[in-house]
Amino acid sequence: MNVDAWFDFSDQVVVVNGCGGIGREIVRGFADRGAHVIAADVDGTRAGSVAREAGSATGVQIDNRDGAAVEQLIAETAQQHGKIDVLVNTAAVYVRVPALELTEADFDRSMGINVKGTWLFCQSAGRRMVERGSGRIINYTSNAGARGSALQLAYNASKAAVISLTKTLAVEWARSGVTVNAVAPGPTDTELMAPAFSDPAAISGFADRIPQGELTPPDASVGPVLFLASSQARWITGHTLFADGGMSAT
Ligand SMILES: NC(=O)c1ccc[n+]([C@@H]2O[C@H](COP(=O)([O-])OP(=O)(O)OC[C@H]3O[C@@H](n4cnc5c(N)ncnc54)[C@H](O)[C@@H]3O)[C@@H](O)[C@H]2O)c1
Repeated sequence: MNVDAWFDFSDQVVVVNGCGGIGREIVRGFADRGAHVIAADVDGTRAGSVAREAGSATGVQIDNRDGAAVEQLIAETAQQHGKIDVLVNTAAVYVRVPALELTEADFDRSMGINVKGTWLFCQSAGRRMVERGSGRIINYTSNAGARGSALQLAYNASKAAVISLTKTLAVEWARSGVTVNAVAPGPTDTELMAPAFSDPAAISGFADRIPQGELTPPDASVGPVLFLASSQARWITGHTLFADGGMSAT
């Protein structure tokens, strides 16, 4: 049994939508295992530096809500490299506000980036994967999408939608050699969570709700993502893998 070969992504082409705290680790994880990674982010400077740091990667500036730009990026990637093996959607925003104060603009922005952007990347990359009869898609969600935690209505609803679109695409493409799964890290100290973690007491409040007792580090879901992208996950589709210190079990 050649376990190393299971996680060898040499010659594979991986697109990562969102290169923030967690996305950066995903780009590095695939590049370290031999893949060429397209690191895409609305912050072009960040995309460039994440790609340079990872080595075998190209940084691209993109707003994931722009369907024409997403289609162009995916078309150019498929043309240049001949295929897209893996898509990982991590780009998201988090708004922390009482439901009665949530604005229409923040609701639309959350749904636009977290849901529509994920769907647009899935549709453009998925089209090439279905045509080719092979591909792996991994979408980032959160246990916030499966529970009713206060002060984050738009985020929770968007992450529930990501679970739903993941299951729907998994079923539609089940006979096409394409798997679609989701990963849900626990609370992680990245820029995303700044609205919650600006108060140090909030960090310990979050940690107290995690059975393992600590925030998950930004690289906690690299292993789960590599596994779901590997040949070993051939039979897993429509699943959400929680890497959250047991939070989803409570
Ligand atoms: N950090 C956590 O506590 C946590 C917990 C559970 C799930 N998650 C999920 O993990 C994923 C990654 O989160 P993170 O902590 O790395 O967040 P992050 O804020 O560090 O990174 C998000 C990235 O998305 C990019 N982005 C924002 N809008 C964009 C757009 N329109 N187009 C393209 N890129 C855009 C940002 O520039 C940023 O680089 C998210 O989907 C998040 O919901 C995070």
